[in-house]
Amino acid sequence: MQTPILKTERLVLRPVTLEDAPVLQGYFNDWEIIKNLSTVVPWPYPDNGTETFLRENALPRMERGEACVWAICLRDEGEAPIGLIELEFETDPERGNRGFWLARPYQRQGYMSEAVSAVNDFAFFECGLERLLVMNAYGNAGSRRVKEKTGAVFLRMGELAHNSGETRSEVWEVTRENWMKIRRVL
Ligand SMILES: CC(C)(COP(=O)(O)OP(=O)(O)OC[C@H]1O[C@@H](n2cnc3c(N)ncnc32)[C@H](O)[C@@H]1OP(=O)(O)O)[C@@H](O)C(=O)NCCC(=O)NCCS
Repeated sequence: MQTPILKTERLVLRPVTLEDAPVLQGYFNDWEIIKNLSTVVPWPYPDNGTETFLRENALPRMERGEACVWAICLRDEGEAPIGLIELEFETDPERGNRGFWLARPYQRQGYMSEAVSAVNDFAFFECGLERLLVMNAYGNAGSRRVKEKTGAVFLRMGELAHNSGETRSEVWEVTRENWMKIRRVL
């Protein structure tokens, strides 16, 4: 499945490209973001970290049709990316089906909830997926709250090494059925 353009009230989600690397690098090289992510993401973050991630990981997975990776952009501000969200079609038991992060200046304005809603619609209604497994580090209140608002139901605790040192993760499930119930009242 090619990564499609998805639009919401305030956002455009478009396929990420290598040209996004410098802007994304500037936002992502931030302990407040990286502390919440798995130790697969190195800290200190290398200068070419985002370019390497896009070239060697995200873009090949997109080309193979294994994942959709979107640059999150503000509708009113053109093509400039302010974060990333990705949907992996195969369920990785440790990392689940979805990942996201948003640049610090744009956080807490409802943007990620909006982006996740668009990706849920795409996953359940366009791709026909039945369920997504999604995860966050224990104590990551923002990520947890985004999940609660977008139809995720807590399943169990899991284990994953995060840069913060936290080794516990929370494992959630979003089903198409639950998303259909919730999206009507959002
Ligand atoms: C987690 C993250 C994506 C949230 O994005 P966001 O756009 O700020 O989230 P929203 O504005 O849609 O917020 C959704 C809800 O979470 C709450 N929230 C957001 N950040 C929060 C925080 N740091 N602490 C507590 N609540 C938070 C909001 O208040 C809102 O709840 P409400 O509607 O009940 O008030 C963003 O903080 C981020 O990129 N964090 C670093 C990377 C990360 O943790 N990625 C996820 C890894 S699993």
